[in-house]
Amino acid sequence: MGAPLLWLLAAVLLCARAASGTGNNIWTAIDVSSHRTLLTCKLKEAISAPIEGHRWLKGDKVLKEDKSDSLTTEYEVVSDDRSGEYQCIFLPELAGKADVQVKGPPKVYINKKSEYGNEGDSIVLTCKSSSYPSIEQWKWYKENEGEANMILVNDTEGRMSIISTPEKTELHINSADIKEDPGKYICNGTNSEGSDTAVITLKVRSRLAALWPFLGIVAEVLILVIIIFIYERRRRTDDIVEAEPPRDEDGGAAPLKASSAVNEKGSNIRQRNSN
Ligand SMILES: *[C@@H]1O[C@H](CO)[C@@H](O)[C@H](O)[C@H]1NC(C)=O
Ligand SMILES: *[C@@H]1O[C@H](CO)[C@@H](O)[C@H](O)[C@H]1NC(C)=O
Repeated sequence: MGAPLLWLLAAVLLCARAASGTGNNIWTAIDVSSHRTLLTCKLKEAISAPIEGHRWLKGDKVLKEDKSDSLTTEYEVVSDDRSGEYQCIFLPELAGKADVQVKGPPKVYINKKSEYGNEGDSIVLTCKSSSYPSIEQWKWYKENEGEANMILVNDTEGRMSIISTPEKTELHINSADIKEDPGKYICNGTNSEGSDTAVITLKVRSRLAALWPFLGIVAEVLILVIIIFIYERRRRTDDIVEAEPPRDEDGGAAPLKASSAVNEKGSNIRQRNSN
């Protein structure tokens, strides 16, 4: 976010310290040129066991590992986030390690540019930094259209609270409000070398919107039930129509009677004929 020039200016004010492991046996250096920062660790005297490799870390993140037997190892910081606590480790594990602290203005990170929540939900917005020196002060603002950003603090009802450590800050919103809470939230981290900000956009959906998928399923099921019901009814009335002649006494029996009458007449005729 900050101009590269600023980063450079700040990165020139660097400090390197060797510590821990076989500690003072390692010489460290930070070399800053116009477009890169080179970190170097050098074992001052050969130790009894041969070196089997090197590992570089920033925080607990492994940046680089090799299997060279060299007594010197280098790491080039290419990202614009130079500031932080690095560590070089000579392998096997106990051969030696040293911290290399690159002092500089912080870089603030967010997980996602946009967060979504449902009305009434608890929402947590998080900003992080691994800068050195670590963040002394975290601040949260809410963008206020056309006006100065509004600073956010713990409110008395406990609806909004801020929990910060040097590495991260969390803005907790309890029971998100669809009118008040959506918008752009800005976190600002400051250390002795400078500050950086990050912006998170919060969107809050209405409870009803959250219900839509469920209502959709209910509607689908209802329509299916209605279709089946209508179909079943039709089929039943069709069955009744087909089953009508034998069942209906007035309608169904009449033709039978008529035909039997004919038969009777016929038989009468036959009878008469036979007479
Ligand atoms: C705000 O509230 C959180 C959690 O309740 C607490 O940890 C923090 O210290 C409070 N901050 C201030 C400035 O009171
Ligand atoms: C962040 O906070 C620092 C310290 O209060 C302030 O000097 C700086 O202007 C702030 N940056 C922004 C972008 O608000």
